[in-house]
Amino acid sequence: MDYFLQPLLKKLPLNCDILIPFLRYENELEHELILSKTEIIFKNSKLFIVAPLAKKPLWSQDWWPQVQKIPFKNKNEALKILKGQKNRGYYYAAIDSPLATSLRKDLRELKLKRIEYQVPSLFDFKYFSWTLLENDSLLICPHPVSQFPGGWHEFNEDKSSPPNRAYLKLWEVLALNYIELKKEDVAIDLGSSPGGWSWVLSEQVAKVYSIDKAPLEPQVSGIKNILYEAHDAFTIKPTDYPDITWLFSDIICTPERLLELVEFWQTHSRVRNFVCTIKFKGECDFDMLKKFEKFEGSRIIHLYHNKNEVTWIRKGTS
Ligand SMILES: C[S@@+](CC[C@H](N)C(=O)[O-])C[C@H]1O[C@@H](n2cnc3c(N)ncnc32)[C@H](O)[C@@H]1O
Repeated sequence: MDYFLQPLLKKLPLNCDILIPFLRYENELEHELILSKTEIIFKNSKLFIVAPLAKKPLWSQDWWPQVQKIPFKNKNEALKILKGQKNRGYYYAAIDSPLATSLRKDLRELKLKRIEYQVPSLFDFKYFSWTLLENDSLLICPHPVSQFPGGWHEFNEDKSSPPNRAYLKLWEVLALNYIELKKEDVAIDLGSSPGGWSWVLSEQVAKVYSIDKAPLEPQVSGIKNILYEAHDAFTIKPTDYPDITWLFSDIICTPERLLELVEFWQTHSRVRNFVCTIKFKGECDFDMLKKFEKFEGSRIIHLYHNKNEVTWIRKGTS
């Protein structure tokens, strides 16, 4: 346990929030919180306790708003508090806690289960989240924001059809209903090789233009409604694709180049719906993200399946 944990938690204010950082991106979350001038009350590699927030930070996997610190005198009292909650609980281990392990043996819990891919996912269980940092108080969030406990978005993967694991990013976007595609939609998938995104899209829309300098894997190139072109995605003409309703890009390029590409398509085509991966070489460029957020109807998400990259989604009308 962090040596300064005890005194800090004693001072925990009545209102505080808990954030679970994405694994290996704790520094990005800290940077983001500093930029937004959010007070960090306590942090370790697994959990941040912060002053109340208005929205989920980009680099947090899960956000527990309005956390209650509930003191208890002994194990039985702690159990009574946990059993007295309305729903089943999801326990998150922020430290190694023998007391939590012992409490959990007597609780009916909401266990983490791999997600069955479905668009949109119908998983709709009410639950509360809790953790234990000290042996005399529980930290409970009665209403966590994530559809899936802990923001844990592991799918039951398809190990045979897609050519790589990039498809999991689009599975997440679709299953969590960040966008809704219609059967009559037409998509262009830029930087599509070896074909994971095109494969996912081919099941959701009428037609997928799939553009990459590199080829698609045979199991994807054979799909009827995928029209592959070996081309530089930065030099194709929007007028050659007048029917597209969605633009997807997973091209490996700088955020600056991607922004130019997006601006170009907004000027020279009627497409207003976008899902694009913004990839970073080093640290997250928060100033750059603001430029993407300026487009009306935009949001930026760090998907569970994103690594050092984020996903810009625009559902625009103009
Ligand atoms: C991360 S991979 C895309 C993976 C793909 N989304 C999938 O699901 O299989 C990035 C791709 O961007 C492509 N790429 C990079 N620069 C490009 C360019 N100028 N034009 C077209 N494709 C490009 C690369 O060839 C590579 O296949």
